[in-house]
This record gives sequence, C-alpha cells and structure tokens, in this order.
Amino acid sequence: MDKIVALAKRRGFIYPGSEIYGGLANTYDYGPVGAELLRNIKNLWWKNFIQKRPDIVGLDSGIISHHKIWEASGHVAGFADAMIDCKHCKARMRADHLLENYIESMDPKIREDLIRAYGGKNKDFSNALKVGKVEGLSVEMLENIRVNLSNLPTKPLICPNCGENEWTKIRKFNLLFPVQLGIVEGEQGSAYLRGETAQGIFINFRNVADSNRVRLPFGIGQIGKMFRNEITAGNSVFRTIEFEAGEIEYFFDPQTTKWEPLFEEWKNAIWEFVTKQLGIQEKNLRWREHEEEERSFYSMRTEDLEYHFPFGTKELWGLAYRTDYDLTQHMNASKKELMIVDPQTQKKILPHVIEPAVGMTRLLLMVLVDAYTEEEGRTVLKIAPKLAPYKVAVFPLLANKEDLVAKARKVFELLSPEFMTAFDDRGNIGKRYLSQDEIGTPWCVTIDFDTLDNDTVTVRDRDTTKQDRIKISDLVSYFTDKLEA
Ligand code: GAP
Repeated sequence: MDKIVALAKRRGFIYPGSEIYGGLANTYDYGPVGAELLRNIKNLWWKNFIQKRPDIVGLDSGIISHHKIWEASGHVAGFADAMIDCKHCKARMRADHLLENYIESMDPKIREDLIRAYGGKNKDFSNALKVGKVEGLSVEMLENIRVNLSNLPTKPLICPNCGENEWTKIRKFNLLFPVQLGIVEGEQGSAYLRGETAQGIFINFRNVADSNRVRLPFGIGQIGKMFRNEITAGNSVFRTIEFEAGEIEYFFDPQTTKWEPLFEEWKNAIWEFVTKQLGIQEKNLRWREHEEEERSFYSMRTEDLEYHFPFGTKELWGLAYRTDYDLTQHMNASKKELMIVDPQTQKKILPHVIEPAVGMTRLLLMVLVDAYTEEEGRTVLKIAPKLAPYKVAVFPLLANKEDLVAKARKVFELLSPEFMTAFDDRGNIGKRYLSQDEIGTPWCVTIDFDTLDNDTVTVRDRDTTKQDRIKISDLVSYFTDKLEA
C-alpha cells in the first residue's frame, strides 16, 4: 500500500489535502491523472447504469439540504460511529475498527478457545470473535467486547498508536456535517451537507415521477459528493470525510415484484460492472451479507461486495433493501403525498427500493491497487484502457530534431480531439515508456526517421511492450477498435 500511495502522489493521482498548510486529516485532492481516472470511472458508471438502462433516469440534487430531511431520514438520530479515545496518548479512533483489527490479529487457537469458553455465558462476545465483524453493534455491545478484550491476560487490547491499554468508554459520534446558512436566522438557517445522495433522490421522487414518463419498476441514479465527519485509519482515499458516490434507488411495487430476485439481478449487474467494465480480477472480490446487528437502521437486507485491499478485505459496494422506509418517513414528516398511481389499476402505490451504492473515490483506489504491477525492472499500472487517464502518448524519437518534433506535434493534433493524449519529448525514449507505464497509458506512439519517409509510426503496447508499425492515417481507427474491444 505504501508503494501505491507513494506512486499516486509522485505521479499526480492523489495529493494529501491542504498540504502546504500542514495537511487536513482525511481530505485529499486529485491531481491531473487522478482527475482523469475519476472522471472515466464516473462516466463508465453513468453510461452503464443510466445511459444504457431504459428503466433508470439520472438526477443531480443539491449538497446543502434542509435539516428536516435528515431528521426525517433518521440520520440526525441514528447516523453515528462509535468512537473511543486512548487515555494515554489521546488518539481517537473508531471503536468498531479497533476491535475488528484486534480480533483479526488474534492467534487462531486462542480465539477458538475463547469462542468456546464464552459461548454459553457471553453470546455477544463469542459471536464477535466468531464472525470478526462488530460494525453497527450498539455501544453497550461494543463496550462489552472491549472490556473483555482489555481484560485478556495473554495479549490485551492495546492502543495501536502507543501500545497502552487505557481506554475511555465507547460513545457515539454523529457523522453529519451541520452548516449554518449566513443570511437566515435560527432554525430556518440550519442545514446539513448531505450524508448520502440517496435522500436527494427520495425527496425528488414525486418530481421525477411526475415530470418523466417512468413506470414502476424504475430507478433514479446520481453521482455526487457526500460528507461524513468520520474518524479514519489512513489508507489513502478509502475512507474520507468528503467523497463522491454513485447511488441508485430502484423503486418497485412490492405487490407485483418480488424483492429477492431483484436483489440477485442487482448483485449480478454490480459484479459484471466491476469485473468486465472496470477490469478487476475476480479473485480479489467477494460478496458478504451483513449480520442483523450490522445492518443500517433503514435496511432489511444488505450485502457488500468486498475487495481484498492490502489493508484487509473491505466494503466496496453496498446493496441494501431499504423497503419503503425513506418514502414513508418523508411522507409523514413533510405531509406531502409521495405515493404514485398505477396508470392501469388507478391504485396508489408506495414503492419499495433496492439501493446499490458505491464510492467513486473508493473505486478509484481499488483500480489503482488492482492494476499495480512490478515486473522486469518497471512499475506498470495495468488499468483497463478505457479507464486509463491518457489513452495514448506521442513521442518524437529525438527532441533535438525539429522535423521529428514537428511531425510528432501533427500526430498529437490528430489524436488529441479523439483521445486524452500525452506529448513527451524529454529524456530518452526508454524513460518515456517507463514514465507512461507508471500512469497506465496503454499505447505509446513514436515518430522516427521512417515516419518522415512513409507516414508510419511505432505503437508500443503497455502490457506486452510489443511494437506495431501503423500508418498515421489508421491511428484513430486502430485505437478506437482497441478501446471498444
Ligand atoms: N446510501 C447508502 C449509503 O450511503 P454506505 O455504505 O454508507 O451506504 C455507500 O456508503 C458507499 O460509499 C460504500 O459502499 C463505499 O463504497 C462508499 N463510502 C462510504 N463511506 C465512505 C467514506 N467515508 N469515504 C469514501 N467512500 C465511502
């Protein structure tokens, strides 16, 4: 992971936020190639789930939103992380992550013995040891597990920062970011930065249904920033306080559509997208169903697609059956009708929803991790070509030969309206190849002396390093075919 983080900074994918002022915890900026990669991921998501689906429409709702939305949705009361402080070094961390990491690091034999010993007398503790997941458990349950781990005689729960075993009590910490609108007095001026884009979809459900020719089942999807005042454990952009997500609320009539097969359809669609479109290796992915205690307050069933990151197997994409929870809450709180009428039966329907939700920035981190390869003296990002920040790089063989540089500029002008194209005439050609390999550019085009005679160039493939001789006039169709393959 350290190597990937270093490459991401050095080559302009990800920079620490507010760096020249000493940094701001859990914030990041995306550099030139990072911005391209993120844009490509978002475009592919949009194309796959909105553009190509006749049953899903897009939305772009606001970030600053009425406090009543978040009260009705349950986030003001229930959207909180459990946190704990080390009394010795004052480090603050998420209690669930502290406990999970500790359980994962335990000697398997000791863990087995404890599961057996506590099975009858402390079910919460023995269950936590068994499944290794405690996210979403109540503060009381977490505190029970924490106390038991702290009291273990052999290897008690110690602070990962200072190594001491002196803890405060676990307590909840709300994740929403409040904002005060400058010109509005009192309660009216109190708003929140959205903690999920989903609420923008629910509160616009009737607007979309009334202004578009949609019929159940149908989805509304959007990509946008969301904000969570999270305590995080590093790991680059895996968990940040500001991030972009892509969320779809897929509405259906529970009287006519069964949720279980729909849930399976969504699992397949997500798997297909991650493996086929993003080109992620299947061996690094798995589905995991949430335990009842772990599920969000609004969900009847949740499954996460998880990815094997270097720092553990972690949630990539959540799929939740949110029922009619949100529409009901907003209907009750706003006193507005949010049901829709079936045009055939004239019956009023309050739809249920299945929600696939994924962090775009988390997808970006996964793409970098999955693509990172070291081989034969080079570092290569084997990113799927359609995601690569630059598709092509153009080089004149020698920088000091004016006619080669002029020809290379012409090739750049031909390619750059069609593809993100880099131009490089610094250093020797071998170094330029290595430099493009590191940012995942799939093809490098070199203009050499033969080009001046016969208008052909060499095209070098990132993964095989093989070179083809191609006519300049064929380059656009050559790359287009490869990108569409
Ligand atoms: N509307 C559902 C929802 O918000 P979530 O599991 O909390 O569900 C959805 O978030 C997805 O957003 C996650 O699967 C993950 O990919 C991403 N995500 C969540 N918190 C994040 C954070 N702090 N930083 C980056 N990505 C995050």
